[in-house]
Amino acid sequence: MIIAVDGPVAAGKGTLAKRIAAKYGYTYLDTGALYRAVGLFMLRHKQDPSDHALAAAAARNVHEISLDDPDLRKEETGNAASVVAVNNDVRAALLDYQRSVAKHRDGAVLDGRDIGTVVCPNADVKLFVTASSEERAHRRLAELVAKGETTSYEAVLKDLEERDARDRSRTSAPLAKADDAHLLDTTKLDIEAALEAACRIIDASKG
Ligand code: DC
Repeated sequence: MIIAVDGPVAAGKGTLAKRIAAKYGYTYLDTGALYRAVGLFMLRHKQDPSDHALAAAAARNVHEISLDDPDLRKEETGNAASVVAVNNDVRAALLDYQRSVAKHRDGAVLDGRDIGTVVCPNADVKLFVTASSEERAHRRLAELVAKGETTSYEAVLKDLEERDARDRSRTSAPLAKADDAHLLDTTKLDIEAALEAACRIIDASKG
């Protein structure tokens, strides 16, 4: 069983995907963390994330960065991740690993931007999780404030809209809803309600 969970920044897909994996006993992969690791590698080596050849080399050496590194979650790293994610060679270097996790025999939940369209086009269930930009900015601001980062609602909203625009407009595997994905708008749903809605879709697909 493969479950693909895609969507824009801060739509709640990570929390939802983790909860789905825990509920059904499936393995979980946050594919954004892989792009963040490439972005962080470049920032730490003082390299420009938009440099094509250097970013491709970083993707091949990405195992140098632990997927538990707290710096992965910083806004600066998320922005660098969105820049390296435009690069075809970076995407190609990360593809096999994502597909190997998807084949986990107990089942897998992968969250990202292109899981239902490119990484696992044959996923058993595809969810496209969204929420309004304003709601996503409020959620992201609360997360950043809780981590002690100082920023404003306006700055977070601007950042999020820029990142979405870059993720949607790139030519290689852009952020997009697969035709056969179920749209889950979480603007007015808390995590428990979103989980319930997702489980209804998953259980229905199991027959
Ligand atoms: O989900 P996230 O914010 O951790 O992702 C960081 C960036 O990585 C995102 O802006 C675009 C990129 N990404 C991608 O291009 N494809 C994926 N499957 C996951 C993330």
